Amino acid sequence: MNRIFSGMQPTNKLHLGNYLGALRNWVALQGGYDSIFCIVDLHSLTLPQEPAALRRNTRELTAAYIAAGVDPSRCIIFAQSSVPAHSELSWILSCHAPLGWINRMTQFKEKAGKHRDAASLGLYSYPVLMAADILVYKATHVPVGEDQKQHLELTRDIAGAFNRAYGVDYFPLPEPQILGAAARVMSLRDGTKKMSKSDESDWSRINLTDDADMIAQKFRKAKTDPEPLPETVEALQQRPEADNLITIFAALDDCERQAVLDRFAGAQFSTFKTALSDLAVARLAPMTEEMRRLLADPGEIDRILRSGALKAAELANRHLAEIQEIIGILRP
Ligand code: TYM
Repeated sequence: MNRIFSGMQPTNKLHLGNYLGALRNWVALQGGYDSIFCIVDLHSLTLPQEPAALRRNTRELTAAYIAAGVDPSRCIIFAQSSVPAHSELSWILSCHAPLGWINRMTQFKEKAGKHRDAASLGLYSYPVLMAADILVYKATHVPVGEDQKQHLELTRDIAGAFNRAYGVDYFPLPEPQILGAAARVMSLRDGTKKMSKSDESDWSRINLTDDADMIAQKFRKAKTDPEPLPETVEALQQRPEADNLITIFAALDDCERQAVLDRFAGAQFSTFKTALSDLAVARLAPMTEEMRRLLADPGEIDRILRSGALKAAELANRHLAEIQEIIGILRP
């Protein structure tokens, strides 16, 4: 059976982009694959973390996976740090990743900004750890949002470089699964920037934990242009904010953007935004409620993570031993 691997960083709150671009697709895909979903806590360390917040966010993210519909009885859910094989494979793969490939990664450039010399080595080698996450399970498919595309291309390149270096056909080249129109949800304050956990302004995103009031306020304040909504999708091309809100509506309502325009063409944004808020609340509230219920019993969340870690480690350690054998590491 084909195997899915994907993960999210337990950094701040999950937002609508994470949900529509990734999490929701995991839920839809989980039945058809051997599925592994990770809380990538080691990746979070690439930016400063407050220890208590990291612990809390790790449990919250686990609860969010489950509340969104990831089923712990069918999938492996675990924290990256609990399976040390990720880190070990990351080192091995880093020895097969030319600097020229890593230097191309746009996410590093964005996150390091003007202070490149002050950025950590971890932030720089972040995509190699990500490749290790995927390859240590020999995953064949990786459902992610659009922003992870370049990292997945690198993962395929590194897998190919390893296979060639040792004349083996060991690692599959994993396929990105970038699904649906909402693979890139944009900021509510600027339709040309993606919705992001790291945006300073909380008004730029809808968090999965926002209550109905907050969701309504955020959509009401969302940037738009003065024109009424157009009749056709083509007319959205030069209107990034309008396009984003229509895309979000379509994704939440499981329909095409054109169907949304058929309903709202000619309407003012104020009318449309009210409908959008109501829809978002209807979709997100049950999830937020379920998250709250799960978080009331952290012991149960920890049990799920422990049991997931055992299953993940069994697979990862078996593969790591095979990899060590291929590269000639003596295991006396
Ligand atoms: P992270 O934690 O930034 O985001 C988690 C997932 O959400 C998607 N996403 C979005 N999708 C649509 N619109 C947006 N505005 C938006 N923002 C985020 C991301 O594409 C991602 O799928 N490097 C990864 C975590 C990772 C990983 C992996 C993923 C580590 N190892 C192995 C897959 C496989 C990250 O930082 O995701």
